[in-house]
Amino acid sequence: MDRIIGIELPAPHLKGDVSIEETLTQRRSIRSYSDKALSLNDVSQLLWAAQGVTSDYGFRTAPSAGALYPLEIYLVAGRVTGLESGVYNYRPATHSLVQTIGSDRRNELYRAALSQSQVKDAAVDIVIAADYSRITGKYGDRGIRYAYMEAGHAAQNVQLQGVSLGIGTCPVGAFDDEKVANIMSLPASQDALYILSAGYF
Ligand SMILES: Cc1cc2nc3c(=O)[nH]c(=O)nc-3n(C[C@H](O)[C@H](O)[C@H](O)COP(=O)(O)O)c2cc1C
Repeated sequence: MDRIIGIELPAPHLKGDVSIEETLTQRRSIRSYSDKALSLNDVSQLLWAAQGVTSDYGFRTAPSAGALYPLEIYLVAGRVTGLESGVYNYRPATHSLVQTIGSDRRNELYRAALSQSQVKDAAVDIVIAADYSRITGKYGDRGIRYAYMEAGHAAQNVQLQGVSLGIGTCPVGAFDDEKVANIMSLPASQDALYILSAGYF
């Protein structure tokens, strides 16, 4: 039987020193990073920004059509203090990670993303995937559009949170879907929609 590695993340900070206006003004797509490893606190914060639970009813940092939450967030970890390199699935309900692959996948991801160097140079890549079946039951094909919109919400949250932590991020939409799904060993029900490379700069 496979070993399941679950990692409880540090609790997210709910207050910061940078205003929303400052994060909006300073947000840029950053493609060069320092070699410094990201702290687990900062990784926790980025994942929380993407899909963290912020209400007793399970509502999250990003809106979701019908609160059906079709998105799955994955962390492709390379340089994170105290975290083994590998691929992890973010679990919003418990603010935790479950390891799905036990080795660094940034290089393969970089090749699948048309050799865009920020994907391999990043300390981590955050991959936003969607399981359309969670939303098309209610909304039909329009649910697919909603999932794309939700990925945009989540990605913007990550970029803005990154600004407030001194973390540069770059949204990456140009990649080979099938290769990314294989590299990440995504379940057949999930499609990769978006990659965000991230690191201190
Ligand atoms: C849907 C989408 C896909 C993108 N894909 C890529 C990409 O594959 N590679 C990349 O370097 N930047 C990508 N970008 C970032 C844009 O190039 C960037 O947002 C644009 O140049 C404006 O710069 P700014 O984000 O710094 O304001 C993408 C942006 C969006 C919204």
